[in-house]
Amino acid sequence: KEIVVSGIRPTGKLHLGNYFGAVSNFVKMQHEYNCYFFIADFHSLTTHPTPADLHGNVKNVLVEYLASGIDPEASTIYIQSDVPEVTELYLYLNMNAYMGELERSTSFKDKIRSQPDNVNAGLLTYPSLMAADILLHKATKVPVGKDQEQHLEMTRTFGNRFNRLYHHDYFPEAFAFNYAANLVKVPGLDGKGKMGKSEGDANCIYLADTADVIHKKVLKAVSDGGPTEENQPKPEPIQNLFDLMKIVSSADTLVHFNDLYNKCAIRYGDFKKQLAEDMIIFNSPIRERIEEISKDDDYLRKVANHGAEKARESARKTIKEVRELIGFKPF
Ligand code: TYM
Repeated sequence: KEIVVSGIRPTGKLHLGNYFGAVSNFVKMQHEYNCYFFIADFHSLTTHPTPADLHGNVKNVLVEYLASGIDPEASTIYIQSDVPEVTELYLYLNMNAYMGELERSTSFKDKIRSQPDNVNAGLLTYPSLMAADILLHKATKVPVGKDQEQHLEMTRTFGNRFNRLYHHDYFPEAFAFNYAANLVKVPGLDGKGKMGKSEGDANCIYLADTADVIHKKVLKAVSDGGPTEENQPKPEPIQNLFDLMKIVSSADTLVHFNDLYNKCAIRYGDFKKQLAEDMIIFNSPIRERIEEISKDDDYLRKVANHGAEKARESARKTIKEVRELIGFKPF
């Protein structure tokens, strides 16, 4: 079976962007592939969370993985810091990761802008740690949203460079994956760009949001005064709402509102109400499971321990082989 790896940083609750960009694919892939899904808690240290926040957010992601339907028997679910082997591979990869290419990464450039007072070395070498996550299990498919594409490219660069240096075809190439033909970018509610925590809570619909909260957020979503000419192209805020509808609503509903838009007969109040209702229908069962599972610390502990064991088995094997390739041999 092909090997799949993906992770999510524990920075808060999961939103529809995380779900449709990543988690919905995890759920589908788990029966077809040998899957490792982890919680990227080492990565989240670049923003210096408090210990309490870090711990709470790791639990959130674990609960939400399970509530979304990831089955701990079918896939390996683990917490990154439970598998310290990844830090050793990170060190080796850093020896062949060049300053210039790390500085050119768009995520690094974004961080320089968004956290100018904390441009730490962990941010610079974020792509090496992500490559280590993927290469540790020799994955070939990585279910992620569009924003991670460049990181995957760097993973291939680092893996191939290692292979050339040690004259082996050791690491396979990993590619970003989504069941939809293209990688997904789920828009937010603020009229511009993707759904993301850093753009604020009002911009995100979380899996844990109640019906009431979803109604309020969607009704407040940025729109405009409405179309003035038939068949006019949609401005970004309106296109974003249609893109969200495409994800959560039926094809008929989408066609219905699209026709109304093209005839200049759309009423944004009705449109948003429908969008909110379909989001609620989608997320209610997940939200209910989140509430259930988060009460069961025993179960969570079992899942995490079981996952850590399976992930470490694979990780130890890779590290042993990598050490030999590099030339760390016992006398
Ligand atoms: P993170 O934690 O920012 O996001 C987790 C996953 O959610 C996807 N995503 C989106 N997809 C579509 N539309 C959106 N609006 C949207 N917002 C978030 C992301 O693409 C991602 O798949 N570097 C990674 C974590 C990571 C990782 C890895 C992933 C660390 N090591 C190894 C894969 C393999 C990150 O920051 O994702």
